[in-house]
Amino acid sequence: MGESSGPTPILRKAEELRALRRDLEGSDHPVVFVPTMGDLHQGHLDLVRIARSFGPTIVSVFVNPTQFSPGEDFDRYPRRLEADRERLRALGVDAIYAPSVDDVYVPGDQTRVEVRGLTDPLCGQHREGHFLGVTTVCTKLFNIVRPQVAVFGQKDAQQCLVIHRLLRDLHFDIDLCIGPTGRAEDGLALSSRNRYLSPEEREVARVLPRALDRAQALLEEGERGRELIESAMQEVLAQPEVRVDYADLRRVEDLGRSDMVEGRVVAAVAATVGGARLLDNRCFEVGRERVRLAPLLDECTPAHLARRWPMQQELPEEFL
Ligand code: PAF
Repeated sequence: MGESSGPTPILRKAEELRALRRDLEGSDHPVVFVPTMGDLHQGHLDLVRIARSFGPTIVSVFVNPTQFSPGEDFDRYPRRLEADRERLRALGVDAIYAPSVDDVYVPGDQTRVEVRGLTDPLCGQHREGHFLGVTTVCTKLFNIVRPQVAVFGQKDAQQCLVIHRLLRDLHFDIDLCIGPTGRAEDGLALSSRNRYLSPEEREVARVLPRALDRAQALLEEGERGRELIESAMQEVLAQPEVRVDYADLRRVEDLGRSDMVEGRVVAAVAATVGGARLLDNRCFEVGRERVRLAPLLDECTPAHLARRWPMQQELPEEFL
């Protein structure tokens, strides 16, 4: 498994996945899963590189209809399976799971899986039903693929926290691995939706990472008042071409808000520029005197998991 010579097999049916899983049974290394909606960019490929360091890797490419609200970009979401396959072949991925909607949502499907609480604020407030779609499809994919490690990207911080909760609450025997947010040279977080931006809009979109810089600078100067820091982020985002959904500083633990910032917190922004809804976030460990950049969840970093699992290859240095 994992040779990069032949084309990467594309599996369409859950039964095919089951057969592959049986073949992978008994490997010393964990079976690793990277769920995606395709149109893979460097951020996804970095997650796949992390996955490949652990063990045999399965990547799903499935544009999940239930996580899009009416009027969102489900229809125009880029679908480029052959290009994705080529990129994944170069990384030695073992299989791509690319089912049809009917394979995932079997005729008559009536089941939804809901995580409460953590899904209420932030994107939960602005994308009705989004997380219900995400947790439902991830539960289905986890049951079909049966990975031991699942890799998600920190760009979707709330999604990571929701999946972490789901895995615990439903007793999935899967370790969540959270890879860092990939960034373009101009600082913009890598996202499939960046494709929707014109060069001018892309320039404007740089206010998202700048708003996080502002939050970081204030925390480093000793500011601990949440409202003040959130207002400063809003000021950076306040451009005529930017429609802000939120610019919040929240506890990682429960995504709640404290008046005075302390402990593990995430500064999270979401805004629409042109036709693209963009997200970004940065996580901090805030003490009374000091502040440092921190992972979202210590036990989910690639480096932490690399101490727990026998590795197939060394982790690329940038993820250590
Ligand atoms: O992050 C994504 O691309 C999607 O939400 C996921 C996890 C693949 C579920 O459809």
